[in-house]
Amino acid sequence: MSQMNTLLEVSGVSVSFDGFRAINNLSFQIGPSELRAVIGPNGAGKTTFMDIVTGKTRPDEGRVLWGEKSISLLALNEAQIAQAGVGRKFQKPTVFEEQSVRENLMMARRAPRSWWAVLTFRASAQDRTRVEELAQEVGLQEHLDRVAGELSHGQKQWLEIGMLLAQEPRLLLVDEPAAGMTPQEREHTTDLLVEAAKTRAVVVVEHDMEFVRRLNCKVTVLHEGSVLAEGGLDHVTANPDVIDVYLGR
Ligand SMILES: Nc1ncnc2c1ncn2[C@@H]1O[C@H](COP(=O)(O)OP(=O)(O)OP(=O)(O)O)[C@@H](O)[C@H]1O
Ligand SMILES: [Mg+2]
Repeated sequence: MSQMNTLLEVSGVSVSFDGFRAINNLSFQIGPSELRAVIGPNGAGKTTFMDIVTGKTRPDEGRVLWGEKSISLLALNEAQIAQAGVGRKFQKPTVFEEQSVRENLMMARRAPRSWWAVLTFRASAQDRTRVEELAQEVGLQEHLDRVAGELSHGQKQWLEIGMLLAQEPRLLLVDEPAAGMTPQEREHTTDLLVEAAKTRAVVVVEHDMEFVRRLNCKVTVLHEGSVLAEGGLDHVTANPDVIDVYLGR
């Protein structure tokens, strides 16, 4: 059997908004169970990169290839890309406040199924067990029967990560997860992302360098829509170009 070492391949991707090149000939690859941090100054194109992978923004040129069959994500719409196994966490948590943690996780398990499967869905013993495992994974096992609206900001973020994991994505994209979190919450968030990346690829955009350090993974530095540097955190933060455009200001 052939070994797959690339889950996502972005190559030569560019996109302009009103003549401004937000993404400029961007190329990089993510492995199937890789944790990757993406850093770079404001406006570098980090969120736009996620918009392109998830089908929210169409690039003007380039390729975005997915999985062992190298299918083009550019031929799919947002729902099809989610179905193919790309999950995305937005900054603002979108949990159902009136529902319990358990109900939120259970609903998330239903979400990616076909309309027929949703209509006929009955939570199996397996689903119930998986929901408890997910709560454990994100550190909410003590809060399963609490209403989501009562959770702290950090706990809501973890619930949302749990809801994304419930859909068993092969790639999870997370944009600035540490924003608004306490130092303890940040620490827990790094732990759970590191754990999640053992069984799937996880790409994390974050400005907090302590957070990135704890992720202890390969780092891609974006600048003006292209890769400026790539490697370990110590390697990229010693790069004079990176210091110049991002760290030294
Ligand atoms: N839909 C859009 N229409 C017009 N301009 C856009 C659009 N999306 C992004 N841009 C522009 O593209 C550039 C890259 O933005 P992007 O949000 O990807 O940066 P970022 O690296 O995520 O920055 P930050 O660290 O501030 O979140 C910015 O100049 C932004 O204003
Ligand atoms: Mg952004």
